[in-house]
Amino acid sequence: MDGGGMRKVSSHCSIPEIDDFDLSKLLDKPRLNIERQRSFDERSLSELSIGLNRVSVENFDHIYSPGARSGLDTPASSTRNSFEPHPMVAEAWDALRRSLVHFRGQPVGTIAAYDHASEEVLNYDQVFVRDFVPSALAFLMNGEPDIVKNFLLKTLQLQAWEKTVDRFKLGKGAMPASFKVLHDPVRKTDTIVADFGESAIGRVAPVDSGFWWIILLRAYTKSTGDMSLAESPECQKGMRLILTLCLSEGFDTFPTLLCADGCSMIDRRMGVYGYPIEIQALFFMALRCASAMLKHDAEGKECIESIVKRLHALSFHMRSYFWLDFRQLNDIYRYKTEEYSHTAVNKFNVIPDSIPEWVFDFMPCRGGYFIGNVSPARMDFRWFALGNCVAILSSLATPEQSMAIMDLIEERWEELVGEMPLKICYPAIENHEWRIVTGCDPKNTRWSYHNGGSWPAACIKTGRPQIARRAIDLAETRLLKDGWPEYYDGKLGRFIGKQARKFQTWSIAGYLVAKMMLEDPSHLGMISLEEDKLMKPLIKRSSSWTC
Ligand code: GLC
Repeated sequence: MDGGGMRKVSSHCSIPEIDDFDLSKLLDKPRLNIERQRSFDERSLSELSIGLNRVSVENFDHIYSPGARSGLDTPASSTRNSFEPHPMVAEAWDALRRSLVHFRGQPVGTIAAYDHASEEVLNYDQVFVRDFVPSALAFLMNGEPDIVKNFLLKTLQLQAWEKTVDRFKLGKGAMPASFKVLHDPVRKTDTIVADFGESAIGRVAPVDSGFWWIILLRAYTKSTGDMSLAESPECQKGMRLILTLCLSEGFDTFPTLLCADGCSMIDRRMGVYGYPIEIQALFFMALRCASAMLKHDAEGKECIESIVKRLHALSFHMRSYFWLDFRQLNDIYRYKTEEYSHTAVNKFNVIPDSIPEWVFDFMPCRGGYFIGNVSPARMDFRWFALGNCVAILSSLATPEQSMAIMDLIEERWEELVGEMPLKICYPAIENHEWRIVTGCDPKNTRWSYHNGGSWPAACIKTGRPQIARRAIDLAETRLLKDGWPEYYDGKLGRFIGKQARKFQTWSIAGYLVAKMMLEDPSHLGMISLEEDKLMKPLIKRSSSWTC
């Protein structure tokens, strides 16, 4: 929603000297070509419980040709085309390469925005973990995996830092929200400062970073066939540490992950405190990715066992309680309240009067979605793009639910897409509600939203590339002309965001990824997981084909 924050970069981390670590040693060139065609097997839970000793591979049956690297300035994807690439593609690659960040001569990431015109750089000159994901996918699809490997290793080293906020020590597994490389031209040294939330506005911990890291590790492995990275003791430990943070026992009665507001993509108050859909979907996906990559050795085994249990409980909870379609809405509308005991239908005691007016008009007869949040006596009915798309990609959504989510996007195109794909959240909060929920945040004003980037992949997975094409056509009329803004404003997204940075890397990379994915849908495998048959939903109704 916002345009970043007034944070100054400084790190209070005590830094063990890990920066002397020579990245190049770890950079044994991944085996491209033949081995690139092999990939992780999405192990089903049954296989997992049998126990495999090492990460397994499978042969891809379908043709998978990520294209050999054809020189730094020539995107492999456009040379591979049988048709003329859109002129924007070359421009986008140039812009993406301009955003590269180097550490001791090696590319390790991309900065959030390369906007020299903006007076306020804030932390937009940093490499954000979440922002790097679309860049990483673009590089992987273009046959340039080294930068992704460097990034994964660099952030892994940062995880090992001792992290403190004031006098409080953060969990070992926490991954940074962002990092910055400081070049000293005189001493010719590079050092890194990282932000784990101790510099961030509101001091929020980036809960999403660790999940993105695991998801990216799998994407790298799937794309290159190079399993040595995921199998290395460092990466195995990194995964275990991230998951230990989320799988530890507490006072929870739900399998979902309790989070502070602003803990992920919308890194400011947006009323997502509780169990935000985005984090739950990323959590689910990271658990599934990790379960495929963790070794069944002494340390990994226990972790895998907790993952399997959590996946079962999480998918049941999400598919049952977060899912909303016409019929479910009608049921909630007629809920009785104050029910006690196991037989309660209205388990969370949701008071029907708390259902917002807009949702009755918004809900089409055909379609459905995972709502924003579910906790005692509170359902946030807002629609969030990222959580729903990740639910499709990770198969948290059943095939029927995935179809229903796409139906909803088609039915509510004007509201959700408008003139600029795609709103990250619908509807906007206004007036008094905005004051209460965001704490009067001027960066979070109504109808001022980020673009979502992950959904073309979800369109392809659900067999609707035409919707992605339609959205990309819209984007192509403006993105380049407007200087790749961070987001658009207005109900239809007609205006360049008030505080949007220009040359925002995720707008550039998101466009490239969408283009390459449409050209060669086999890229989808990098960020998509097939349905696990053993996680079949226990609920009978998952989509609404009738009103
Ligand atoms: C803003 C966004 C956040 C993003 C960062 C860098 O703070 O809210 O999602 O990661 O900018 O682009």
